Amino acid sequence: MALKKKKTKKKSLKKKKTIKQSAASTDKSILDQIIRVDHAGEFGATRIYDGQIAIFGRNSKIGKTIQHMADQEQEHIEKFNELLIEKRVRPTALLPLWNVAGFALGAGTALMGEKAAMACTVAVEKVIGEHYREQQGLLEDDEKELRKTIAKFEKDELEHHDIGLEHGAEKAHGYKVITKVIEFGCKTAIAISKKI
Ligand SMILES: [Fe+2]
Ligand SMILES: [Fe+2]
Repeated sequence: MALKKKKTKKKSLKKKKTIKQSAASTDKSILDQIIRVDHAGEFGATRIYDGQIAIFGRNSKIGKTIQHMADQEQEHIEKFNELLIEKRVRPTALLPLWNVAGFALGAGTALMGEKAAMACTVAVEKVIGEHYREQQGLLEDDEKELRKTIAKFEKDELEHHDIGLEHGAEKAHGYKVITKVIEFGCKTAIAISKKI
């Protein structure tokens, strides 16, 4: 009896494998969600760094460090701007909200000090980095190029995360609370921007 059961299990596993092999194209609705949410996230990221630079000034020491990250975010958003058109994806309807919320988050943390601004970077980039990692697993071989792009951006985001840590993020007053609140905010924004 037990032996029979085992055999059936093996058979069904084989079946699953064949299905996976024949389905090498990425589901269009998943692709749409990925591009929409990444475009929204990169837009938000540019606004966060805009807000921080507005407070610290472009020529301050910390301003220059932030500008380096902001320049990379600019590259990221430009790529997703192109992808929206190329893949005919509707951008999120909430761009005006992320515009204001991103800037407010950046300026607000910068007003709390350099370390708090860096804590904001650590939290945001951690969530985005993890999100980019997950997405690579959702893309099939027909989207190899996009997978490569996302892998490159993931690397950039993790570099930003580490820059935050190197600049004393963890020494910010209320580091744990700041990062938890921002992480929760980012995850919520991601969930909303996929759909709306
Ligand atoms: Fe980015
Ligand atoms: Fe980033």
